[in-house]
Amino acid sequence: MEIAVFSTKNYDRVFFERANEQHGFRFHFFDARLVEDTAPLASGMPIVCPFVNDNVDEPVLEKLAAGGTRHIALRSAGFNHVDLKAAERLGLTVSHVPAYSPHAVAEHTVALMLSLSRQIHRAFARVREGNFSLEGLLGFDFRGKTVGIIGTGKIGQCVADIMLGFGCKVLAFDVYPNDACREKGVDYVAMDRLFAESDIITLHCPLTDETHHLINEDTLSRMKDGVMIINTGRGALVDTKAVIDGLKEGKIGQLGLDVYEEEAGLFFEDRSRNIITDDVFARLLTFPNVLITGHQGFFTREALTAIAETTLKNIAAFEREGQPVHPVQVS
Ligand code: NAI
Repeated sequence: MEIAVFSTKNYDRVFFERANEQHGFRFHFFDARLVEDTAPLASGMPIVCPFVNDNVDEPVLEKLAAGGTRHIALRSAGFNHVDLKAAERLGLTVSHVPAYSPHAVAEHTVALMLSLSRQIHRAFARVREGNFSLEGLLGFDFRGKTVGIIGTGKIGQCVADIMLGFGCKVLAFDVYPNDACREKGVDYVAMDRLFAESDIITLHCPLTDETHHLINEDTLSRMKDGVMIINTGRGALVDTKAVIDGLKEGKIGQLGLDVYEEEAGLFFEDRSRNIITDDVFARLLTFPNVLITGHQGFFTREALTAIAETTLKNIAAFEREGQPVHPVQVS
């Protein structure tokens, strides 16, 4: 069974080859992103394995289907980058990895919060320069603060657990509130109340038409002055131009991002010798109270092991029974 793996990095090879000891599949690892021009690389291969910034739109799916692909085995939880209707029309099965380590993303979310509140990113640079002044590094305690979590699925719940452990009050909004969270002490409220009362707002809902630019000029105006905003969900949950205005006006006290709406073509590569041509992203990098990581929330040993194992289980089940363990349905 041949599998075309796109956007391959060295770590993908290591974890996939290790998980493959149970299966014996044959991989074709491509460094290239999956786009219309690279789709023919998968010609003749029944399984294609894309990552989050691959372009799995209708023209790409048409090329893959014409080349004999039958199964798009995503190695991610999110599937907003796949045209599911086109996949269904073309008879392509799509599977994903619904849970690998929600703790990985939740812990990274909290790492961004703590680094920003205590300005660890600035302290690190100062101390290396021999500057031990504390001026400008004043932080705040999390205990007693109100954290607003949007989306209390697997990751949001882990964040809630950690923040409750810090002694925070946790407010949440989810289209499907869950009782387990309520029992732990999470208070589900309307989105407006969450915006008005939260000192820290963190996003853990999927990117959909409904959640696109959830953080925008209007919603920012309803938040507390100096609010901390964290996005480890998907970039387009945040209107980047609106948050830049919010930062300039002091409305946003701190901004932590692991994702960016135009990250495809920017993240996951060493571009340290290139000029950044995205002026919006370049502007974000100039703020001392903005901390950006390049979509590394998932990047732990435990998560990569689980991603590779679950992806290959999806593929094995599809080959055996015609249905992956975790299919993505068109809603
Ligand atoms: P999940 O499916 O377990 O939870 C998502 C939650 O969002 C659900 O409870 C759902 O009811 C809720 N939701 C859906 N629409 C909503 C809306 N309009 N408003 C509020 N809540 C809404 O997903 P999980 O595993 O917790 O992941 C959340 C997101 O995190 C993913 O969709 C993905 O975009 C992102 N992610 C980021 C990673 C990273 O490396 N930075 C890695 C993995 C996921």
